[in-house]
Order: sequence, then structure tokens, then C-alpha cells
Amino acid sequence: MRQSKDKKFYQDLLDEEQLLRYYRGRFAVRNDIIVDHVLSLLPDDASVIDLAAGSSYIAEALLKDNRVKHYNWNDFNPKLQSLVSRRVKDDRMKISSFDVDADSYSLAGYNVFVCVSMEHLERDCEALKKLDSGCVVSICSPDLEDPAHVRSFKSLAEMEDRYSSLLDIKIRQEHRDGVPKFILSGYKR
Ligand SMILES: C[S@@+](CC[C@H](N)C(=O)[O-])C[C@H]1O[C@@H](n2cnc3c(N)ncnc32)[C@H](O)[C@@H]1O
Repeated sequence: MRQSKDKKFYQDLLDEEQLLRYYRGRFAVRNDIIVDHVLSLLPDDASVIDLAAGSSYIAEALLKDNRVKHYNWNDFNPKLQSLVSRRVKDDRMKISSFDVDADSYSLAGYNVFVCVSMEHLERDCEALKKLDSGCVVSICSPDLEDPAHVRSFKSLAEMEDRYSSLLDIKIRQEHRDGVPKFILSGYKR
């Protein structure tokens, strides 16, 4: 039986107005840090996969850069998909609804991977293992126990312990504004 929450849980959790909180305040500040990390490592001809995205904040920011040629935005919440399809009108953007913890999917061919929701995913390491070697990766996870979280880290070092065999980490950052959040960026080994 899965430990992570299924689609229905998230679909029922927040209405559209509440989903907009991920575009504001400390979420926006944290998202801007991730955008800065990704832009500092961004390849030309970037093909981005943004897994369990939670909002289109990062997509909207990265699509301003014309090195981004394709952007595959994933989240299995239909309410959020509907919001994002109305917010983002860009031919490079694709909306994907697969369930990261239950469906089979491929991440071959992407050269940028973003995930702000690692704490929601049981199969986090499996996702990273699907990436091509050299893919730019930026991931975030908070120090926060929550019914929807399958793990939490007490420090950046703890997070690094989990992912360093898969990632060559180039940038590590703690963001302590309300809930502490840890951000690691680098390349898939
Ligand atoms: C609540 S948001 C997390 C926000 C994020 N922690 C942040 O700080 O911005 C988590 C998102 O992950 C999505 N999600 C969770 N599990 C998923 C899965 N197995 N497959 C696809 N999307 C998933 C949810 O629908 C939700 O929109």
C-alpha cells in the first residue's frame, strides 16, 4: 500500500483561491531561489521536467528565458492543472498529469529536472535514477512533519545524505523564512 497521498487527497485539500498561496509570500521567495539556481546551471536548448510542481511559478519564470525550448509541467491535481492551463499560454509548455508514485513514466531526454515537492514523493530516488547523467537538478524539501509528507529532513546535511549518491551537488542552500527549507542543485551523476 502506498504511503504517499493519492490524487483525491490533494484534489479535495485546497480550492483554487487557496492554491494561489504557492505563488505568494515565502513560497515565492523560495521559488525565486530555485529559479536562480536553475538559471545559473541552465544549458542552451533546455528541456525541463518539473515534477509534482505544486504551482506554475517556476515554469512561468523559466519560460521567460529563451534557452528553455520545452517545459513539461507535472502535477496530478486536476484543479491545479486547470488553473495552470489558464495561466500559462506558451507553445513550449506541456501539462502532464501522471502520478509519480503509481504510474510508469520516462525522464529520458530531459536536461533540467525541478522538484519542489520531494517530501510528497515516496519514489523520489526512483525519479532521480530515471534522469540522464549530466541533467541539471534542483530539488527542495522542508524541515516539516505533515500528514502529506513521507519524510522530513532536520538539516541540509541530512538531505544531502539521501541524494548525494545520485547527484553531484554544486549549490546547497537553507532558506529559513517560516518553515526551514533545504535546496540542493547540481547534476545527475
Ligand atoms: C502541496 S504541493 C507542495 C508545495 C511545495 N512543497 C512548495 O513548497 O511549494 C505538493 C504538490 O505535489 C503534487 N503531488 C503530490 N504527490 C504527487 C504524485 N504522486 N504525482 C504527481 N503530483 C503529486 C500535489 O498535487 C501538490 O500539488
